[in-house]
Amino acid sequence: MSTRANRLFSGRVEFLLSAPQLKFLPEPDFPEIAFCGRSNVGKSSLLNALAKRKAIARTSVTPGRTQELNFFEVGDPTQFRLVDMPGYGFAKAPVKVVERWKKLVKTYLRGRAVLERTLVLVDSRHGLKDVDREMMTMLDEAAASYRVVMTKADKIKASELEATVAKVTEEARKHPAAFPEIHVTSSEKGMGIGELRAAVMKDALRIE
Ligand code: GTP
Ligand code: MG
Repeated sequence: MSTRANRLFSGRVEFLLSAPQLKFLPEPDFPEIAFCGRSNVGKSSLLNALAKRKAIARTSVTPGRTQELNFFEVGDPTQFRLVDMPGYGFAKAPVKVVERWKKLVKTYLRGRAVLERTLVLVDSRHGLKDVDREMMTMLDEAAASYRVVMTKADKIKASELEATVAKVTEEARKHPAAFPEIHVTSSEKGMGIGELRAAVMKDALRIE
């Protein structure tokens, strides 16, 4: 399975469009996998790592880089889409802007018929924050299943990582729509990326 996923992600991954509002969403023609999480958690970097590109999705040290829903197509012909989203919990943008992003993300996550899976990214250094819990509860209520993905695992000591992973796993298991096993990744070092690639492909194509 991982060989197939590897091959798929080494092939065509192409930016499709950027939707600043719901009316600009593409036709729901293909399965979609969405990337959500707090600002700066590493959503765009994870998408790049999965897709084996340096900068197909734009990243930045400044939180708030991604401001629209960005759609990428995978496969030739297209088999599914990846959706990079604006971060939540970003205090520095004007309140109105943050509210608009939040509404866009939530409406998309709640109502998108072709959404096969959401990845909820959590910074390994910080663990779950209330904004993550709020997002997870919203996904539970929408019966939209998701994988919790720890990011930036290269940034902390192995012992601390282990403790955070245990805590997050325990909490994720209380959320009905969360997968019981969480992923631990580093986009920088490639940790966990191969496994996640296979999981994303399986989710998108509904392979058992
Ligand atoms: P917004 O679009 O602003 O919500 O941010 P984002 O979640 O898309 O984060 P982005 O991918 O832009 O990454 C934010 C910063 O974290 C960048 O400086 C990245 O280089 C860094 N970063 C992302 N992933 C990793 C990782 O696995 N390891 C390390 N060390 N840094 C990372
Ligand atoms: Mg981003």
